[in-house]
Amino acid sequence: MRLEKTIEYQELLLEELPADDRRLMAAAIDATRTAYAPYSHFQVGAAVLLGDGTIVCGSNQENIAYPSGLCAERTARFAAGAQHGRQPVVAQAIVGRTPDGHLAAALPCGACRQVMVEQRRRQSIAMRVLCYFSDDKILLFDDVESLLPFAFSM
Ligand code: THU
Repeated sequence: MRLEKTIEYQELLLEELPADDRRLMAAAIDATRTAYAPYSHFQVGAAVLLGDGTIVCGSNQENIAYPSGLCAERTARFAAGAQHGRQPVVAQAIVGRTPDGHLAAALPCGACRQVMVEQRRRQSIAMRVLCYFSDDKILLFDDVESLLPFAFSM
């Protein structure tokens, strides 16, 4: 039996996003400035929008013992969890910045997707994911579940 799963997403221009999502992406872009990335020189910014309208930002935080660092998405998500407890995550925006200062595509790594999916399963509402792609194009996933089919669970 051959089965299939499809990933649905939209490709939009930054200015085509609804105001809330545009503000969230702007917060993620700002957050790239707080990255600590002396090893990769690739800055990543993330911003999560909570159910009560709060935006919590994160950025990649590297360490000389490489695996000790953390991606921007998880930095933002865990900060939101620690500071705002049970608020659901309505949306998360992610963007990269190259050493020459240009915005760049950043799609969440597998470990971040697993963390995002677990948060999604703790809440009843969908979690939108907005990824900066290129030339002000945004990939919009209506729910993080589509970014990690067959996520680990017990
Ligand atoms: N990084 C993120 O912050 N998010 C991702 O989803 C993938 C990669 C960071 C980790 C590291 O600091 C740098 O980007 C280069 O891999």
